[in-house]
Amino acid sequence: MIKNLIDHNYSNVTRMLELGSGTGNHAVYFSRLKYEIDGIDLSEQMIDISNSKNIPNAKFFVGDISNFQFDENYDVCISLFHVISYITDLNELIKVFNNIFSSLKPGGIFIFDCWNKPAVIKDPPSIRKTFFENELLKIERIAFPVNDFINSITKIVFELNILDKKSNTKHFETETHKMRFFSEEEINYVSKKSKFKVLNCYNWLDINSKSSEDYYNCYILKK
Ligand SMILES: C[S@@+](CC[C@H](N)C(=O)[O-])C[C@H]1O[C@@H](n2cnc3c(N)ncnc32)[C@H](O)[C@@H]1O
Repeated sequence: MIKNLIDHNYSNVTRMLELGSGTGNHAVYFSRLKYEIDGIDLSEQMIDISNSKNIPNAKFFVGDISNFQFDENYDVCISLFHVISYITDLNELIKVFNNIFSSLKPGGIFIFDCWNKPAVIKDPPSIRKTFFENELLKIERIAFPVNDFINSITKIVFELNILDKKSNTKHFETETHKMRFFSEEEINYVSKKSKFKVLNCYNWLDINSKSSEDYYNCYILKK
């Protein structure tokens, strides 16, 4: 879908910026299309994993998306799997959008997804257990959310019970993620403040949807 969105709205992409690039999975895909990709992520560990993949035409940097500066160099910027929801303050989000605007060529596009406020209020996050297993590890993850509808923030404490299959040892970890959900009006406001034009807002992975009712929205903005 992301490739479709890009092709619909921009021709001849050569340079892509990815914000919150994680382990570099999107870069693997876009590198095969001969894009040159620069990725930023707050986590040194994520950047190390991305670099260890030796992805052709891709470079990764440790950095904060609220505070980066690149030249006006990119055709397209992507920020996927609700990275934008990690920005929990609207003024901070304006800074992020300003940075992206400055990094895009005229006519460049910005594609991102985030949690959708009406959908989250209708069906708030609740305690959830998930399991993951591969040849090395078996992980049980329990998510404990605390929903703050006044400030549009959900704080999720993840408890992880990890079994190392080789050594048969168990350990326990916790992680806290603070996520913000945004209404379309808020995203429109932030976009306008940073001079972006909002081209469209889709339900996640549904390019034919006319509006957003899904838990995750996908926006496409143009410089
Ligand atoms: C849910 S993961 C998504 C990773 C990747 N985009 C993907 O789709 O696989 C969110 C990522 O955003 C990064 N992140 C969160 N806040 C950030 C910030 N302020 N600046 C840069 N990266 C950030 C995290 O380190 C994490 O790698």
